[in-house]
Amino acid sequence: MNPFYLHKIAIVGVGLIGGSFALALKRAGVVATVAGWDADGDNLCLAHQLQVIDERSTSLKGAVSGAELVMLAVPVGKMADVAIEVLPYMDQGAVLTDSGSVKQCILEAVEPLAQAAGVNFVAGHPISGTERSGASAAFAELYQGKRCILTPSEQTDAAALRKVEQAWQSAGCEVVTMDVLKHDRILAAISHLPHMIAYSLVNSVSSYDRYEENILDYSAGGFRDFTRIASSDPVMWRDIALNNRQSLLEMIDQFGRFLSELKKDIEQEDGERLYEFFLRSKLSRDAILHPSVRDK
Ligand SMILES: NC(=O)c1ccc[n+]([C@@H]2O[C@H](COP(=O)([O-])OP(=O)(O)OC[C@H]3O[C@@H](n4cnc5c(N)ncnc54)[C@H](O)[C@@H]3O)[C@@H](O)[C@H]2O)c1
Repeated sequence: MNPFYLHKIAIVGVGLIGGSFALALKRAGVVATVAGWDADGDNLCLAHQLQVIDERSTSLKGAVSGAELVMLAVPVGKMADVAIEVLPYMDQGAVLTDSGSVKQCILEAVEPLAQAAGVNFVAGHPISGTERSGASAAFAELYQGKRCILTPSEQTDAAALRKVEQAWQSAGCEVVTMDVLKHDRILAAISHLPHMIAYSLVNSVSSYDRYEENILDYSAGGFRDFTRIASSDPVMWRDIALNNRQSLLEMIDQFGRFLSELKKDIEQEDGERLYEFFLRSKLSRDAILHPSVRDK
């Protein structure tokens, strides 16, 4: 039997990420009871109907009291306010964690609040998701074989960190710990910038007005693959953009420099430079899929 076992956990924000965490832990058999709370009553009912959570509490207090681990899986911009609501009801010594896509703002806001309430906070971020939202989007395999980044501070309690690490490992993740600023910079590059580009691409193509018809109707595989993430929840992405502003602006500038370089080469009909540009990109992209090529 897995020696890691939780008698009660609570998920606050039972959407894709919180719901999938609950389902994954239940499937792993490491939790007895999952309580849930959500600002959207219909979504909370649905989560209960779909057995994403075992208990549909009638109050936030009922959901989190007695829980050894509370997961905040609400939009980034709501994390601190929700922590303020949750902490008074949590047991002393219990563990509070989160799944927010930006970490520094959450760590800075929530850690002191948790310390004052006698609760151990561990900041985390699973690197896995889809463009769908809500309890109906949750599935137990979401984290299988994926990474989860934890960003402990000097104040983070070692036992609490271990507990959150074990929970994510039980959900199927490889867990890595990382400096919080490094996390935000890396995520700005590999996740936040691509979302900004996908949103911009869809807007720029859909507002192209040379013809009366909507040219998006002609879009096929390439455009649709490239822009899948532009179907992601706008609230979530507004919050991420505003809360990882510095790192994201740095990456938008970096991207702008490359786009300008491309524009210049096309204007100047510089085929050699264009070929070099595309080849360099192709080799980097191929190496993501086949890392052994890069290592050679
Ligand atoms: N979707 C992804 O790909 C992904 C990946 C990793 C991390 N994250 C992060 O995880 C968090 C949750 O994202 P998600 O994709 O599960 O979103 P989601 O919209 O599927 O779920 C969020 C849930 O939080 C609820 N909620 C909002 N405000 C609340 C409040 N004040 N109190 C209680 N519940 C509230 C919503 O009703 C919703 O059910 C976000 O912080 C996001 O940045 C998302």
